[in-house]
Amino acid sequence: MTQPVRVAVLFSGRGSNMQTLAQHLAKPSVAGEFVLAITNRPAAKGIEFCQAQNVPCAVIDHKAFDTRAGFEAEMQNALDEAQIELICAAGFMRLLTPDFVTRWHDRIINIHPSLLPAYKGLDTHARVLADGAKEHGCSVHYMRAEMDDGPVIVQKRVPVKADDTPQTLAARVLKQEYIAYPEAIDIVIKTLRKP
Ligand code: GRF
Repeated sequence: MTQPVRVAVLFSGRGSNMQTLAQHLAKPSVAGEFVLAITNRPAAKGIEFCQAQNVPCAVIDHKAFDTRAGFEAEMQNALDEAQIELICAAGFMRLLTPDFVTRWHDRIINIHPSLLPAYKGLDTHARVLADGAKEHGCSVHYMRAEMDDGPVIVQKRVPVKADDTPQTLAARVLKQEYIAYPEAIDIVIKTLRKP
């Protein structure tokens, strides 16, 4: 049997996508293993889940480093030590340098709450509403040097309703994120383990 793909998840806050990935990767039918979580925020809520589930969680506070390169070198050490093969960014609110992203080419993926290439960047739900768009959603994509750029792996669409607020729209999109990320990780795992 082939060895499971060793996965790390990067998160910065609530960590609900990270939890969904942990639950998905725990299924015997999935050829991946959730080996390590990394957060850049010591106060991130998701840390509690890691503690409760005994998932190793490296807290690497970006504020403790003078440069992005220093912060990323520390992350790279943690990833190397855990022999990580695939990185999933899930609500990770730090821009990664082109150096780091290029080193992990096709082995780092991200979830973004919009139908990329539309609405890159922050506050996607409010911007969609301000534009009067009829449709919104989420994308899981391979990361590239440019922010929120890179080939899309899975996209899920939701309708925008007339009485939506950024919160109601975010909640509708989030439900789809929990479906999209496991689907995407299955696709990427298959690609990485292709004979
Ligand atoms: C998600 O909507 C994700 O798409 C965005 O930030 C949110 C993170 O939520 N980048 P969580 O931390 O996974 O609960």
